[in-house]
Amino acid sequence: MAEAADYSALVEQLRDGRPVKLRALRPDDRADMLAAIGRTSVQSRQRRFFVPKKGFSEQELAFFLDIDFETHVALVGQIDEDGHPIIAGGGRFIVVQPGQAEIAFVVVDDYQGQGIGTILMRHLAVLAQDAGLKELIAEVLPENSAMLKLFKKFRFKTASKGSPIHLALQLP
Ligand SMILES: CC(C)(COP(=O)(O)OP(=O)(O)OC[C@H]1O[C@@H](n2cnc3c(N)ncnc32)[C@H](O)[C@@H]1OP(=O)(O)O)[C@@H](O)C(=O)NCCC(=O)NCCS
Repeated sequence: MAEAADYSALVEQLRDGRPVKLRALRPDDRADMLAAIGRTSVQSRQRRFFVPKKGFSEQELAFFLDIDFETHVALVGQIDEDGHPIIAGGGRFIVVQPGQAEIAFVVVDDYQGQGIGTILMRHLAVLAQDAGLKELIAEVLPENSAMLKLFKKFRFKTASKGSPIHLALQLP
């Protein structure tokens, strides 16, 4: 899946008109990824990880950064903030069984509602399809209306209700 590793997509626009660059997560993004997580609220971390995570072990960090672009694909949305590029959000899918990958996102609170989640989803769906995957699945807490709305927009269907809700999207 070389195209995913080299991924440096067109610059897209946030809802307020600012540019956001979509690109692959790189091993040297460690500090910027941690900075982004550090700017994310307890509620957002709870919604992403299902526990209000404050930090990550070395093992977890290695897992999040060790993207092979075959079984684990991760993109970030990069924004210029006062002349410095920062990571405003990220999305990834991880193959959990042949043909099926689990997808998840987190966007820094200051940048939520600006379209970054939607842009990441659009690009990851294309990459998943290009990789020959047949299904994307996701787990979402029932109170997470933003994530549920986003997934429904992309035609994910509810696979099972409860907490978390299980969603699935069949890829063409
Ligand atoms: C869920 C999340 C990834 C969405 O990313 P985002 O960049 O804010 O999403 P977008 O701006 O593309 O908006 C997606 C939709 O959600 C809606 N939305 C955004 N924030 C919302 C909120 N607080 N409440 C209800 N809907 C909301 C938007 O209006 C949009 O719908 P629209 O296109 O019909 O207007 C982001 O809010 C986030 O990181 N949340 C915390 C982590 C999380 O929940 N991860 C999910 C784990 S799978």
